[in-house]
Amino acid sequence: MTNLYDEAYRQSIQDPETFWGNAAEDIHWYKKYEKVLDDSKKPMYRWFAGGELNTCYNALDVHIDRGRGDRVALIYDSPVTQTIKKYTYRDLRDEVAKFAGVLVEQGVVKGDRVVIYMPMIPEAAVAMLACARIGAIHSVVFGGFAAKELATRINDATPKVIVSASCGIEVTRVIKYKPLLDEAISLSAVKPEKCIIFQRPQEIAALTPGRDIDWAAAMTNAQPVDCVPVAATDPLYILYTSGTTGQPKGVVRDNGGHAVALKWTMKAIYDIDEDDVWWAASDVGWVVGHSYIVYAPLFKGCTSVFFEGKPVGTPDAGVFWRVISQHRVKCMFTAPTAYRAIKREDPKGLLVKDYDMSSFKILFLAGERSDPDTIQWSEKNLNVPVIDHWWQTETGWAIAANCMGLHHFPVKYGSPTKGVPGWDVQALDESCNQMAPGEIGALSVKLPLPPGTLTTLWQNDRRFVESYMEEYPGYYKTADAGYIDDEGYVYVMSRTDDIINVAGHRLSTGAMEEVLADHPEVAECAVLGVADNLKGQIPIGFLVLNAGVERSHDEIIREVVQMVRERIGPVAAFKKATVVKRLPKTRSGKILRGTIQKIADNQDYNVPATIDDPTTLGEMAEALSKIGLAKARQA
Ligand code: COA
Ligand code: AMP
Repeated sequence: MTNLYDEAYRQSIQDPETFWGNAAEDIHWYKKYEKVLDDSKKPMYRWFAGGELNTCYNALDVHIDRGRGDRVALIYDSPVTQTIKKYTYRDLRDEVAKFAGVLVEQGVVKGDRVVIYMPMIPEAAVAMLACARIGAIHSVVFGGFAAKELATRINDATPKVIVSASCGIEVTRVIKYKPLLDEAISLSAVKPEKCIIFQRPQEIAALTPGRDIDWAAAMTNAQPVDCVPVAATDPLYILYTSGTTGQPKGVVRDNGGHAVALKWTMKAIYDIDEDDVWWAASDVGWVVGHSYIVYAPLFKGCTSVFFEGKPVGTPDAGVFWRVISQHRVKCMFTAPTAYRAIKREDPKGLLVKDYDMSSFKILFLAGERSDPDTIQWSEKNLNVPVIDHWWQTETGWAIAANCMGLHHFPVKYGSPTKGVPGWDVQALDESCNQMAPGEIGALSVKLPLPPGTLTTLWQNDRRFVESYMEEYPGYYKTADAGYIDDEGYVYVMSRTDDIINVAGHRLSTGAMEEVLADHPEVAECAVLGVADNLKGQIPIGFLVLNAGVERSHDEIIREVVQMVRERIGPVAAFKKATVVKRLPKTRSGKILRGTIQKIADNQDYNVPATIDDPTTLGEMAEALSKIGLAKARQA
C-alpha cells in the first residue's frame, strides 16, 4: 500500500516541476515565476526563474498580514545570562525593519554583502532578516572561529558592513569578540566601511571612531524600511564551510528555492504546524542555525526557541528538559554529540524525571553519524521517536530522513532512513554505475538537486562545478561514502575527503595541516580525525621534526596546538599531537592515512602491500599509545 511519503517521493522525482510548483503556492510572490525549473544551463539549475519575492516578508510580515502578528516567533532562552525573552512576529518584524533602516542608512543596498559575527543572541537573527529585507546578502561567521578564519571570509565576501557584538558567553568564560574582529579586519585586505557593534552588559567594547557604530544608538534614530522584492534566483546568503584546503567554500543559497523548500520541510520532515513550538539547538553560524533556528520555522509561522547555552554546564545536564517543558516544545533538533554530553553526565537520565515532558513528541538528530547507543539512550529516557537525518551545509536541508509528517518508517539503527522527496540518492562506483544494494559506493544525488540547495560557490562557478558536479557527470557528489539497502534505507559511513566532524562541527584536516606545516621546526605532518566518545571525532596531529631539532617535543606540541587555536579557532578542538620519526607512506610517497586511522581507532589493520617501510607502523602505534591512543593489533 502506498503512503504519503511514497506518493510524494515518486512525484518529486518523476515530475519535480509539478511537485515543487505545488509547494511554491505556499509562498508569497510579488511576481510569479516563469518557470519552476530552468535547466538551460546544466549543471547550473535555477528554480523559480523570473519570480520575485522577499524572504523576510515570507518569514515575518506575511504572518502579521494574515492576522497572526501576536503569535510568538522567537523565544530567546539564555541560561548563560539568565534571560528569557519572547518576540512576537510583530515585535520581530519591527526590530528587523528598524535594523534594515540602520543598514540602509549606512549605504547598504541590494546585492551588498554584510558579514555577521555574533554569538547566539536574537540580534543575530535580526541582522540576518534585515539583510533579507533589503536584498543584501548576509554571511554569518561562527563565533568559535579565530580572527584569521574571519579574515579569510571577509576577503572573499567583501562586505560593506560587518555586524558584531562585544562578546559571546561560553560555559566558563566571556569571549571578547571585538578584539577578534579588529584583528580580522587588520589581517584582511578588504576593509568594511562600517562595523555595527551590539554591546552586551558582560563586556563593553571600545569602539573604533569613524568606523564603529553602536547598535543601540543607531536603532534609536532608525527609520523602519519595507521589504524589497528580489529575484527568486538572487542570493540570500553565503555560508562558508570547510573544503579540502584552507580556503573555505562559500556556499550560496538563493531566495526562491530556499523559501519554497524550507517551508515545505517543516511539516513533511518535522511534522510541525504553525501552532507548534520548535527548537533547533545549534548556532546561527552553522547551516542548521540558518535553516532551522531562523528561516524554516519563521516561514512556517510557528515558534522557534533561540537557545544560548550548552547541553551541559549551563547549569546542568537537565537544561534541555527544562527548556522543552518550560516552552512546551514539540520537536527538537540537535547533534548527537549534545546527547552524548548529557548521557555522560547523567547516564541514567535521572534529570528527565524532574520535568513535564508531555509536549515533546520527536527528537531529530543530524550533523554527524548517530551512534545506536545514543539513539537508544534517548529513546529509552525520552520515550519518543528519535530520528536520525543526513544533510550538509551545501544541501541546506535533509537529503535522507524519516519524513515524520508523511510516513513514519521503522527505524533501522545506523541509517537516516530514505531519500527525502526531491533527492534521488544513489551509491555509485567509479564509472558512475549504481552499486548493488548493500554495497558501499560514493553517495551521490541525481541532478537536478531540489530547490533550496547550493546554487554555486561565491564568485567561483568553476570550483562549484569541479567540487561537486564533475566526478560523476549528471550527479551531485556528496563526498560521503555509504550504501543503500534493499528497502531503500541509506547508510552514511564516512567522508571520501579529508573533512572530519568534531562535535557536529565540520572541519578540514587539510587546513590544520597547513597550519602545522608553518611551524619552523616541523618538516612534515599529518592530521587525522580519530574516534572520540563525546565529540564523535577529534583531530590528532602527527609531526615529523626537522633533523637536528633538540627542543622538547612537549614544547613544540604546545606551540602547534596554540597555532591551530589562533589561526583556525577553539572550535577545531585541536589539543593532541605527537612527534613521530617518520610517517607511514606508500612507495610512491602517499601517507597511509587509512592505516594510521585504524591504529588510532584501535581497529585491526593489515599492512598495506604498497607500504614503503613496515616498521613505520610500529613507530606510529608507539607514538599513539604515548598520548593514550592505540592499542592496535596487526590483523
Ligand atoms: N564562540 C567562541 N568560542 C566558542 C564558541 C563560540 N560561539 N563555540 C564554541 N567555542 C569554543 C568553546 O568554548 C571551546 O573552547 P575551549 O577549547 O577553550 O574549551 C571550543 O570552542 C570547542 O567548543 P565545543 O565544540 O562546543 O566543545 P565543548 O567541549 O565546549 O562542548 C559539546 C562540547 C558537545 C557540549 C558541544 O560541542 C555542543 O553542545 N554541541 C552541540 C552540537 C552543535 O551545536 N552542533 C552544531 C551543528 S548541529
Ligand atoms: P555539515 O556541512 O557541517 O553539515 O557537515 C556535513 C557532513 O556531516 C556530511 O557530509 C556527513 O559527513 C556528516 N553528516 C551529517 N549528518 C549526518 C548523518 N545523519 N549521518 C552521518 N553523517 C552525517
